[in-house]
Parts: sequence; structure tokens; C-alpha cells
Amino acid sequence: MSEALKITSLRGGAIDAIRAADLDLKTELAKESARRWFARRLSLRSPLDAPLPDRPGRPEKPELVPPTQVKKRSLHTIKGRIALLHAIAHIELNAVDLALDIVARYATEMVPHSFFDGWMQVAFEEAKHFRMVRERLRDLGADYGDMPAHDGLWQAAHATRNDLTARLAVVPLILEARGLDVTPSLQAKMRETGDLESAAVLDVIYNDEKGHVAIGAKWFRFLCARERRDPARTFHQLVRANFRGPLKPPFNDIARAEAGLTPSFYRSLTSTSSG
Ligand SMILES: [Fe+2]
Ligand SMILES: [Fe+2]
Repeated sequence: MSEALKITSLRGGAIDAIRAADLDLKTELAKESARRWFARRLSLRSPLDAPLPDRPGRPEKPELVPPTQVKKRSLHTIKGRIALLHAIAHIELNAVDLALDIVARYATEMVPHSFFDGWMQVAFEEAKHFRMVRERLRDLGADYGDMPAHDGLWQAAHATRNDLTARLAVVPLILEARGLDVTPSLQAKMRETGDLESAAVLDVIYNDEKGHVAIGAKWFRFLCARERRDPARTFHQLVRANFRGPLKPPFNDIARAEAGLTPSFYRSLTSTSSG
């Protein structure tokens, strides 16, 4: 079925995936666009590409509510684990659209082709993550869409739609790096409750996400070097201008450092008052 998908270009495939409300189609378009791009069977852009939408296509459910209305539950109950997996599925789905949005939105930037290799690898893996988590929800008798979710991720990213450097500061270097901080303790709790299948899914996500933060850090540094800006200082300025609230410790310093994100980037941002 994937061979039959019509994809006009890398940008066109990314846009079609973003627009798709059917999540099987969205994730298949993301993966197939990545495969064809890596096989060098797609050009970067085509006049036939559809326009990039302001919001991604989504099914009718889940209902989107303010972040404060999304309940947290204990992981010691099956309901609690389903709620956590549902929240992760929602994050992964947003991550698919966000990686593709970087490709589609910045397809005219003066960057090397390997920039698009990196973000298509991210899009491919986010599509894989969404499918794995959804599969796990189904094993537990639930499904994506069963409970409300919030729109904070898309909104945080949308605020940086006119500035690639700011987009990289917020999406991979704040939001995805946050995943590195919180995932190990979630894995441990899943193991404690005996849910080894969910823990294994989180293992795959955790390892891939280190790579996503590394890709973000690499291209963030590339853009800073090109503009002769200091990376850590630029990061501070962009985060203050584009992201609400301080960053929350504790940080996973080791995983962050492995990805190229050193404490000079994030330490001083833990409180909004520090200069
Ligand atoms: Fe992911
Ligand atoms: Fe990611």
C-alpha cells in the first residue's frame, strides 16, 4: 500500500502527512516520505505540493482541553498506566507533525540536505513511537482518543513558526530534552508494577529521543555558527522570548550531555528571575 502513495516531493509528502486526519495514513505518509527521501527518490520541493496548514489534521477524538484539565493518575492501577500511555501517544503524535513541520516550513532555508535527513529520521521514528504506544494501549483494552488531551505542545511550537533557530530551541532542546529527564523514572515505575511491555516501549523511545535532541543541538549550533552567535546565550534569549515559564529540574545531565546539550544551556533558565 505504501508504494501506491502519491508523494509529490519531500515537502509535499510532509505536508500531506501533516494534513492527514487519519492517523494510519499520517504515520504511513511520514514513514514512506522518509524512505523515499533516503532512497533519493524525492526532490525537496515541487510546484504540486499542497499548502502547509496552520494546524495538523487530527481525528475527532481525543477532545482537546486546557492542560490543567488533564488528570494525572497513579501508575499502580491499570487506569493510571493507560492514562500515561495515552498522554505519551499524544506527545508522539504531536512530535510526528512537528518534525514534518520543520521539514515543510523550512524547505526553502539555505541549509544542507543533511538537515532534512535529520528531521526525516526524527519524523520516521516519531511515527514508529506513536504506533508502538497505540498498540500497547490496544493491548490494555484502550485506544488513542479515549481520553482528553491538551494542545500545549503544538501551541508552544506554533509560536516559533517564523524563526527556525527559535523553533529548534523550543522543540528539540526544551520539549524533547524534557523527555530525557522524565522517561527513566517512568520506565522504572512501569517495571515496578510488572508492566514490562510498556517499559520496553519506553526504552525504544528513550534511546531514539537522545538522537532527536542531538539532531536539534547539531542544527541549532550550525545556525548559531552561521550567524556568528554564541549558542548558549542565543538559546537563553530565544527561550525567554518564546517559551513561557522556567525549565523544570531535575535534569538528566548525562543524557543531555550525550546529545550535546551542556548545562550552560539550561541551568540558568530554571528560574525566570535569573539573568
Ligand atoms: Fe518520540
Ligand atoms: Fe522525538
